Amino acid sequence: GALTPVEPVLAGRHVIVTAGPTHEPIDPVRYIANRSSGRQGFAIAGALAALGARVTLIAGPVSLPTPAGVDRVDVETALDMAAAVEPALPADAAVMVAAVADWRVAPAPQKVKKTGDTPAFVLIENPDILATLSHSPQRPSLVVGFAAETEQVLNHARAKLTRKQCDWIVANDVSGDVMGGEANAVHIVTADGVDSWPRTGKDEVARGLARRIADALMGAA
Ligand code: CTP
Ligand code: CA
Repeated sequence: GALTPVEPVLAGRHVIVTAGPTHEPIDPVRYIANRSSGRQGFAIAGALAALGARVTLIAGPVSLPTPAGVDRVDVETALDMAAAVEPALPADAAVMVAAVADWRVAPAPQKVKKTGDTPAFVLIENPDILATLSHSPQRPSLVVGFAAETEQVLNHARAKLTRKQCDWIVANDVSGDVMGGEANAVHIVTADGVDSWPRTGKDEVARGLARRIADALMGAA
């Protein structure tokens, strides 16, 4: 119930959360981005802080207030986000919720003008922040990735778990109206199997994940 006091089971633990999109500039007035409101990641950061964790929230460009008790680092690009993770280490857990843009371009110094031609952009792949962290000597003991999929949700999630060497992938089906919406249906994919949670609000997903992260860290302690 609303009056049940929350035990600070994550007191003394540090968790890094990435959230929101990244913006990759094309020129001074344009960018490439993924659709992401940042709401799910911000809710997770807040839920972890509510359990007593010290939380470093590395946030791409979003218009959201900082959750209570959370240390926020604002970044714009994927390279900025990658660079912000390292000084935040060490951490007991990392939850990579950000919808990182997969590609960047070498930005033009001035606004690109229309000429009637078809402009060509050379897309450069961004570093995989989650995979880099999973392979880092300072790897947190629990590394959680997200996967927003429009089809074959569990197959893609399992492939990402293996490829990125993380502990869990929280997969969500974004073929509906999840992006920017209030609710989310997630599957927690681990080496042991899949836990599918009923479709519910992003705050409740966040509290469930924070609780599961706390259980995992306490089991590992
Ligand atoms: N991720 C990351 N850095 C990137 C790309 C993704 O840290 N450059 C993280 C995301 O924050 C998420 C997970 O990796 O936790 C999966 O992201 P997703 O975009 O689904 O994976 P990709 O490997 O980019 O695969 P896809 O081709 O499906 O976009
Ligand atoms: Ca991607």
